[in-house]
Amino acid sequence: MEYREITKGVEVPVLGLGTWGMGGRETPDKARDSETVTAIRMALELGLTHLDTAEYYGAGHAEELVGEAIEGWDREKLFITSKVWHNHLRREDLLHSMKASLGRLGVDHVDLYLVHWPNPSVPLKETMAAMEECIRQGHTRFIGVSNFSAQLMEEAQGHLKDARLIANQVQYSLLDQKPRMELLPACRRMGVSLVAYRPLERGAIIETPNAVMDEIAGARGKTRVQVALNWLISQEGVFAIPKSTNPVHLMEFMGAIGWRLTEEEQRRLSDAYR
Ligand SMILES: NC(=O)c1ccc[n+]([C@@H]2O[C@H](COP(=O)([O-])OP(=O)(O)OC[C@H]3O[C@@H](n4cnc5c(N)ncnc54)[C@H](OP(=O)(O)O)[C@@H]3O)[C@@H](O)[C@H]2O)c1
Repeated sequence: MEYREITKGVEVPVLGLGTWGMGGRETPDKARDSETVTAIRMALELGLTHLDTAEYYGAGHAEELVGEAIEGWDREKLFITSKVWHNHLRREDLLHSMKASLGRLGVDHVDLYLVHWPNPSVPLKETMAAMEECIRQGHTRFIGVSNFSAQLMEEAQGHLKDARLIANQVQYSLLDQKPRMELLPACRRMGVSLVAYRPLERGAIIETPNAVMDEIAGARGKTRVQVALNWLISQEGVFAIPKSTNPVHLMEFMGAIGWRLTEEEQRRLSDAYR
């Protein structure tokens, strides 16, 4: 596995494992629990020890499945992220959500707790104070945001007294390069890592033919998935969290690390999908 500092002194695998769709979507679905837990364990064995989940996923069931999968694992070797949903951003609700997530995960703290989406109807100041309280109470080591613009991320940071935001998790892939323009430079300026969600655009990258992609993948002996993930992690300060419960796909993710696209290849890919 390849590691990168997500914040000063904390190294995290550049590739993590997403869990949206595991254990249901908006409601719990237990039909594939055993297969899902096996897949998460396989991912951990492969080194995908950066796990991304949320209270929203499967209405908490994804967190339960992560909790089951990590039983017996050395907690120190895992980097677990969870997120608070946008209707729980008042102080009391947020602290309640935080504790409920810990209960479902079966851990005494997560590594990173994120505000899943902004909610203009709740004062950001109150939310960020509650996020800091989660750190003070030992529920999370670090805090961050998700789906925040550069401006809102700066505003959120401005409301923090002691802590710093360490990550902003946003949609970022070859097919959606918006964060490159404003957000990624702002993240770098603020020392915030960018965690790229939907890095495969839910499979669309695999299905969409692209001559430059296929030329580079062919020359490199890599698949479209591997090139698409490498394009992300080749960028300073960027992590990617693809999701899969398919053992073959998990193995394929591993071929995305241990090499780097050249700057010229990165540029050609960026242009080819823009
Ligand atoms: N913060 C947010 O608002 C937010 C929003 C969306 C997602 N996320 C996080 O980001 C993670 C990743 O995003 P995502 O799950 O939406 O999309 P994704 O990772 O871009 O794509 C996942 C989909 O691609 C398929 N897939 C994976 N590898 C494949 C391969 N080698 N060949 C063919 N198909 C493949 C998976 O199916 P199989 O399982 O069958 O392989 C799954 O259906 C989520 O799981 C979640 O943790 C966060």
